[in-house]
Amino acid sequence: MTSPPKTKLDFGRAILRESLSKRLRALRPRPSKVLVVMDRRAQEAVGKRLEVAITQAGFSLEMVLAPHGESRKTMASAEALAARLVRRGADRSSFLLAVGGGVTSDMAGFVASMLFRGIRWGVVPTTLLSMADASIGGKTAVNLPEGKNLIGAFHFPEFVVTDVRTLTTLPQREWSCGMGEVVKSAMLSGPVLLNQLESIPRAKLRRSSNAMVDVVRSCGRYKSRIVAADPHEGAKRKLLNLGHTYGHALETSAGPKKLAHGEAVALGLRCALHDSVERGLCSEDYAERINRLMSRVGLPDRYPGKLPSDAELRKLLRRDKKAAYGTLDLILPIRAGHNAVIPGVDARDVAAVIRRELG
Ligand SMILES: NC(=O)c1ccc[n+]([C@@H]2O[C@H](COP(=O)([O-])OP(=O)(O)OC[C@H]3O[C@@H](n4cnc5c(N)ncnc54)[C@H](O)[C@@H]3O)[C@@H](O)[C@H]2O)c1
Ligand SMILES: [Zn+2]
Repeated sequence: MTSPPKTKLDFGRAILRESLSKRLRALRPRPSKVLVVMDRRAQEAVGKRLEVAITQAGFSLEMVLAPHGESRKTMASAEALAARLVRRGADRSSFLLAVGGGVTSDMAGFVASMLFRGIRWGVVPTTLLSMADASIGGKTAVNLPEGKNLIGAFHFPEFVVTDVRTLTTLPQREWSCGMGEVVKSAMLSGPVLLNQLESIPRAKLRRSSNAMVDVVRSCGRYKSRIVAADPHEGAKRKLLNLGHTYGHALETSAGPKKLAHGEAVALGLRCALHDSVERGLCSEDYAERINRLMSRVGLPDRYPGKLPSDAELRKLLRRDKKAAYGTLDLILPIRAGHNAVIPGVDARDVAAVIRRELG
């Protein structure tokens, strides 16, 4: 476990070359080598600019392609990656740069945390989900067949350079998934980000616009503030699970092809809002406002296919790794910037809300 965050965060549009080169030059002590672990789709999007930045910083480009896709975010892939890095000349003072989405940064960061008992690393996120969420906060992990992200470490990157121009090539569905986490951040961080999101014209939501820089900056800074106050996941960081308890159960039952993570989070947010309205914690107006925003950014409002039975839903909910003693800690929205942690909720009640909202 490394010490609390000191990660430098850069956000902008068309800043990749300059910011990355500056961040690499500023590393003290100067690394012996910069080794890039890159997603192959990201390579098409940023490969050239990246090479220039690294060369400008006085390093030669040493690149290893990252295993692609969630199913390959495994211990076996991490081991293979570590071996390739060593064969490429990695040593204790090498610097690892993860370029890609959350799968790449989770795995490359995990390898960085273990290799030579920990080497320094940095991130260039190239998906919206990673810019708004995965690249921030120092959590790194790989999956086990028994569950997602079960093996990992806290290992804070030295810097994260976020350039929204890298999003131009991102497929629509990946974009919407990132928006699921962005809407979650808006509900957590407060009215400023929520108003910002609602006021962006539709056309500008898709492009690498300055408006998007503001959005990812707000999300990134919000998460980073929460993490700084609670680096190793105590009560505060729990808030970041808003929508995720319901969402994980739906994601697992539908499978990632039918329901990607961000889409499942969006359905989870709908359930959380429904739950809150029923408990008298939040207004119907607020729930409608968020649901409208999610529809506008292309997020689903229905479960794909038939909902699992209540018994299956309960089983899925109890498997949530955050479930303690069979009950769940629910995060429920009150209004923008205000959310309550409700401990010890029975999985039966959560399953019933899912059925009432999505059944
Ligand atoms: N560490 C954390 O705190 C944290 C937080 C949230 C999520 N995560 C993890 O993040 C992962 C999901 O991240 P993700 O959605 O970025 O997935 P991902 O890394 O698989 O990327 C999604 C897809 O987009 C492609 N891609 C990446 N950049 C592209 C670009 N610029 N243009 C075109 N295609 C591009 C990738 O090849 C991939 O097919 C999960 O494994 C999740 O567990 C981690
Ligand atoms: Zn998430």
